[in-house]
Amino acid sequence: MATPISFDPPRGMRDFYPEDMVWRERIFDSWRRAAKRFGFQPYDACVVESLELLQRKSGEEVADQIYWFEDKSGRKLALRPEMTPTLARMIAQRQGQLTFPVKWTTIAQCFRYERMTRGRKREHYQWNMDIIGEDDCSAEIEVLAAAVTALRMMGLPDSAYRVRVNNRALLSELLEKSGIAQEQHAAVFLALDKRGKISDEEIQALLATEGLDEEAVKKTFHLLGVETLEQAAELAGEDSPAIARLRELFTLAKVYGIDEVLRFDIGVIRGLSYYTGIVFEAFDTEGKFRAIFGGGRYDSLLTTIGGKPTPAVGLGFGDVVVAEVLKDLLGESAAMEKNGTVIGYMFPEQREVAMALARRLREAGDDVELMLRKAKPKQFFAHAGSGSASDAIFIGPDDVEKGTVRKKHLADRSETEIALS
Ligand code: HAM
Repeated sequence: MATPISFDPPRGMRDFYPEDMVWRERIFDSWRRAAKRFGFQPYDACVVESLELLQRKSGEEVADQIYWFEDKSGRKLALRPEMTPTLARMIAQRQGQLTFPVKWTTIAQCFRYERMTRGRKREHYQWNMDIIGEDDCSAEIEVLAAAVTALRMMGLPDSAYRVRVNNRALLSELLEKSGIAQEQHAAVFLALDKRGKISDEEIQALLATEGLDEEAVKKTFHLLGVETLEQAAELAGEDSPAIARLRELFTLAKVYGIDEVLRFDIGVIRGLSYYTGIVFEAFDTEGKFRAIFGGGRYDSLLTTIGGKPTPAVGLGFGDVVVAEVLKDLLGESAAMEKNGTVIGYMFPEQREVAMALARRLREAGDDVELMLRKAKPKQFFAHAGSGSASDAIFIGPDDVEKGTVRKKHLADRSETEIALS
């Protein structure tokens, strides 16, 4: 006998059963509504991208995690690990025709061959919101406020998370003051981003391979000890453009009503090399989960792929971590919303009456689940109670004779009578 095929999906990939879809829909719905509320336009692209576009030679973790293959003509293709390079390519393609700034949004399925930990899968959906062609700080605050709005729509209280904000330009200024050359900054950022994932000794070794001497390594670590924006301003100097930018962002956060959730954190660096300015990551307040979302300003990516210089800000917000945070806080069943009507009937003679009533209600705009067979009352109400409907109508011979049925509201068992004709 042949060995039976495993019923599990490939490792790290997910199946979505109806109970999982309830959560996914709640998250996707909030993403879409928040994007619309902030004036972002939807776009999309194929999940298969050319490997060359995705493979930047920067030593980023994500570059090693790409699922790639050769097609029958020998083209090197990949399943995208993120949407940003594709977005940059699409913008560059139409650069002469677009009126900037553009505000674009998508929900992209992304693939990364990750070491599997809590909150990390090998496939995830990532909401992206990007503003291309605007260097004003209003772009950063719009993206951040839209993300906070999505979390509020999902039912997550502000107290449950914090968005930690930093500025790579600030780190650059401080590294330069410490005598670390500009060319080394990108590598230093990627090494520092590994804090918490690998030991400090390993990071020190990484920095040493980048050519930093012992003194420079010490100074770099010292910078990460900065706790407040005021301390950072003391080090960088009051005329620091990077500090001014951060202060502006915090001022605007007050205007947008999101200052309570924003915190300065010099330790937020981000693991992708294309960021150039403000960077941010959201974490649950208790620190139990991985990042809920992350993003920042990336003003050089378009030139890196051959486009014209174009400022850009954006974020990626995955479905995996936020679902865990929401379930942890609100309970596994919190996403189940009860609405619509389930209709059942006792004997075959009532089948057509039930069908006609279902048709009438559906045409009037109601969501109706019609039982496909006759059922005993107990059986019917057990089914109705365990489903997603808020109301139930059970039709027996007496109802047909009277010409009316009772619609039962399942939550409080209250009833309303409706005519069958
Ligand atoms: P990222 O930080 O690599 O950024 O990913 C953004 C978010 O996607 C993470 O915060 C997390 O919610 C989710 N995510 C990433 N990898 C996984 C995974 N293996 N499993 C589950 N969730 C995951 C980017 O990808 C940037 N391209 C975001 C961006 C857009 N920056 C500017 N525009």
